[in-house]
Amino acid sequence: MDAVNTLIQTRMASKHAPRIPEVTAHLVEAGGKRLRPMLTLAAAQLCGYEGAHHIKLAATVEFIHTATLLHDDVVDESGQRRGRPTANLLWDNKSSVLVGDYLFSRSFQLMVETGSLQVLDILANASATIAEGEVLQMTAASNLSTDEAIYLQVVRGKTAALFSAATEVGGVIAEAPADQIKALYDYGDALGIAFQIADDLLDYQGDSNATGKNVGDDFRERKLTLPVIKAVAQATEEERQFWQRTIEKGKQAEGDLEQALALMAKYDTLEATRQDALRWAEAATQALTVLPDHPIRKMLHDLADYVVSRLN
Ligand code: IPE
Ligand code: IPE
Ligand code: MG
Ligand code: MG
Repeated sequence: MDAVNTLIQTRMASKHAPRIPEVTAHLVEAGGKRLRPMLTLAAAQLCGYEGAHHIKLAATVEFIHTATLLHDDVVDESGQRRGRPTANLLWDNKSSVLVGDYLFSRSFQLMVETGSLQVLDILANASATIAEGEVLQMTAASNLSTDEAIYLQVVRGKTAALFSAATEVGGVIAEAPADQIKALYDYGDALGIAFQIADDLLDYQGDSNATGKNVGDDFRERKLTLPVIKAVAQATEEERQFWQRTIEKGKQAEGDLEQALALMAKYDTLEATRQDALRWAEAATQALTVLPDHPIRKMLHDLADYVVSRLN
């Protein structure tokens, strides 16, 4: 991870446009959990890789992630990220969009250096899938007919696609057998889904000091995440009118977030959502059984527990 961080530091700079290192340093120096690059390194090592390309792939994955965060905070009009004001707030939307584009392009340069067309294929597909997920979410937002199947499609796209690509390319660069690469993909996919469900739950019951992001953003943005979808599905006629006003029409007033939370409590949807996250984390650990018995396999198992431990 030290080598990955060094590579990120050297590749995020730009001699020609000072705004780029300003914005990237603001975001990168704030940290971030570095989950996705860690997954790539772990997958490669687990499959016995002895070369050095996994470092480049890990940095690629983190660059793609960072680019999507810059764009996501513009789209979500978010004000806080990694415990700091967002780049769109400190600078402006234009800077976030353009520096995000720069980071995407830097990620392509890095992955080309591995010389593996298969890796390029996986990461290019993941980038397209993330964008599709974000666009699908945008069009599903404020639409009360959004159901759990659409939610899953959004989450698989915007979040799980990068987790599964991160683990898959680790196996591919190590030239692991096909069944192991498939297992790595399945692990990343399920882990990513568990992770995003947990993130959506924390948007309602998290502590912004711990998450580094504002609480209640999704309600304000009229996003139909699992806790709300489950409450809407069970709503009485009167409750449905509340959801129509706040989510469909976006006419929100003081106290509405509290009212939404009360309805979620009434149907225990936060707990039901937590159970869904636990099930996906369990599916992730199940996928690991195909992989070689190795200390890193145990670490990946612990990581699945960690992703949902934030919910306890
Ligand atoms: C944030 O991801 C975006 C989501 C998919 C919810 P992380 O929570 O992994 O972000 P950082 O990199 O640790 O800040
Ligand atoms: C993040 O989605 C997904 C991507 C970065 C593509 P969210 O909008 O749910 O994540 P946060 O809560 O802003 O981190
Ligand atoms: Mg967001
Ligand atoms: Mg978003």
